[in-house]
Amino acid sequence: MQRNKKKKARRHPNSSHLETSVINPVLFAIFAFATCGGYSGGLRLSVDCVNKTDSNLSIDVAFAYPFRLHQVTFEVPTCEGKEREKLALTGDSSSSAEFFVTVAVFAFLYSLAATVVYIFFQNKYRENNRGPLIDFIVTVVFSFLWLVGSSAWAKGLSDVKVATDPKEVLLLMSACKQPSNKCMAVHSPVMSSLNTSVVFGFLNFILWAGNIWFVFKETGWHSSGQRYLSEPMEKHSSSYSQGRYAQDSYGSGGGSGQQASLEPSSDEFGQQPSGPASFANPI
Ligand SMILES: *[C@@H]1O[C@H](CO)[C@@H](O)[C@H](O)[C@H]1NC(C)=O
Ligand SMILES: *[C@@H]1O[C@H](CO)[C@@H](O)[C@H](O)[C@H]1NC(C)=O
Repeated sequence: MQRNKKKKARRHPNSSHLETSVINPVLFAIFAFATCGGYSGGLRLSVDCVNKTDSNLSIDVAFAYPFRLHQVTFEVPTCEGKEREKLALTGDSSSSAEFFVTVAVFAFLYSLAATVVYIFFQNKYRENNRGPLIDFIVTVVFSFLWLVGSSAWAKGLSDVKVATDPKEVLLLMSACKQPSNKCMAVHSPVMSSLNTSVVFGFLNFILWAGNIWFVFKETGWHSSGQRYLSEPMEKHSSSYSQGRYAQDSYGSGGGSGQQASLEPSSDEFGQQPSGPASFANPI
């Protein structure tokens, strides 16, 4: 993820580059799992019976991650004497919520580990091109998981919203079927942090999917001529400082070991009848 910034950070350990490079993927993952996994909320209802002594004007229903709503029980008056009935919310969004949080936690751990490897074990990362290869595969897999996890959780959240809507919960109560009893929603659960978690899920997907290209460039699978082409492309997305790999390994002349290990792979891929290679050769 965002190798270029990390590379700069390595050269200037005290600069702010280090912070920005670590923060982007790591912090986005933290936001995603904290806003979902840390959630607890509740709603409040009031049941005002004809016989006031039976009423309960503040019935609280609390729920939290992982949203096994069918296990959330609460007692409400039936408005027939002191009798009460035990009710439960409907639905279970735990599988999508847990899947989402699991993806976020592993994405967090991976981007943290990748950052450490990239900053401190640069040469090992380059060895046999294995680091970039693994990084590429993992980034593709995580992009997919973010998309699936965020979509599933978006659906799970919409179920949670319906099941915890006070108006829906009132329909479960037998007392509220009698028009003479007054049933009211006092307050609805606050869902803003869960909405945020879905937004961050999709932002993470965009972040990781966008990084596929940059990690792909690190694998050396594209032709070595790509470095000429990368310059006009830089204008497209200035948020990523790209062209880094080509500039760093060919331009600076440092790290001769890296260069040696990369030359064979460049040749290997230069043989492919790929567009960029033939395009760049005349230059
Ligand atoms: C009303 O319901 C709440 C639970 O939501 C309960 O703690 C409280 O004791 C009930 N009040 C009465 C008067 O039954
Ligand atoms: C109201 O409830 C009390 C105690 O539960 C009972 O004694 C009374 O008869 C009830 N009143 C009516 C109108 O149902």
